Amino acid sequence: MKVIKEIAAMQDVADYFRCVGKKIGFVPTMGFLHKGHVSLIDKAKEENDVVVVSIFVNPTQFLPGEDFEKYPRDFLKDYFSCEKAGVDYIFHPSVEEMYSAKSRTRVVVSEITDSLEGKARPDHFTGVATVVAKLFNIVKPNIAYFGQKDAQQAVVIRQVSEDLNFDLKVSICPTVREENGLALSSRNSYLSDAEREEAAAIYKGLCEGKKLVINNSVSDSNAVIGKIGETIKANSKNINIEYIEITDNCDLKKIYDLSSYKGDVLISLAAKLGDTRLIDNILFTK
Ligand code: PAF
Repeated sequence: MKVIKEIAAMQDVADYFRCVGKKIGFVPTMGFLHKGHVSLIDKAKEENDVVVVSIFVNPTQFLPGEDFEKYPRDFLKDYFSCEKAGVDYIFHPSVEEMYSAKSRTRVVVSEITDSLEGKARPDHFTGVATVVAKLFNIVKPNIAYFGQKDAQQAVVIRQVSEDLNFDLKVSICPTVREENGLALSSRNSYLSDAEREEAAAIYKGLCEGKKLVINNSVSDSNAVIGKIGETIKANSKNINIEYIEITDNCDLKKIYDLSSYKGDVLISLAAKLGDTRLIDNILFTK
């Protein structure tokens, strides 16, 4: 396994593999890898000849006052996780390598970034879309892998890839969870053991919501949202819900009347437990 820090060197390697007809699978990450990332790497290995993982904590997707400085980092541990998982290249640039002082271009995605995380974290998705577009141009993958855990990010990246005609496939892979249902995330490292147990209430709430929608037992989506909130509250004293929304999984438009709706249903939520902000979602077809 090789570690590449320069954009030009990564592009040369990518050009070589594309030229000799090898498929490049790409897993973009901000490091502090967990089993969710490893599941993406496993999928990339299954479906490609060469696997590249990027490790870059992207400053432009953090708002002022967010956790950019304290975001967990452990390159050595990540290195060994990648090596064990059979990764071929780690792309690990510096901030200066990725964003020159002269850089002036940003990728702004409209409408689908106005709600959910985009409303709570304005400009976050401009940072994500910009860095992902740059990474696609640097790594030149045939398939890029992202987790369903960041549901809105997945929708935004699919849109960017389509709108900017990237010559690749975006593959969205299932969320990996702890046994108690807590979705794996690098930010879970902020939680105490007791909080990790308590955070399981979030997935219980989402599962309750899915059950109500699938069984057609409640047609008003606000009533389903209320029940999800009640389930979370019944299983946790300290979780403060920021939002729960029920939308489609394409335009992220609110679904009001569930009885007449057919298609993919995405229930998304954000909540705070102590100082830690958690997001999770459940996606299913009705
Ligand atoms: O999901 C992440 O880890 C990041 O948002 C991504 C896609 C690597 C862009 O920095």
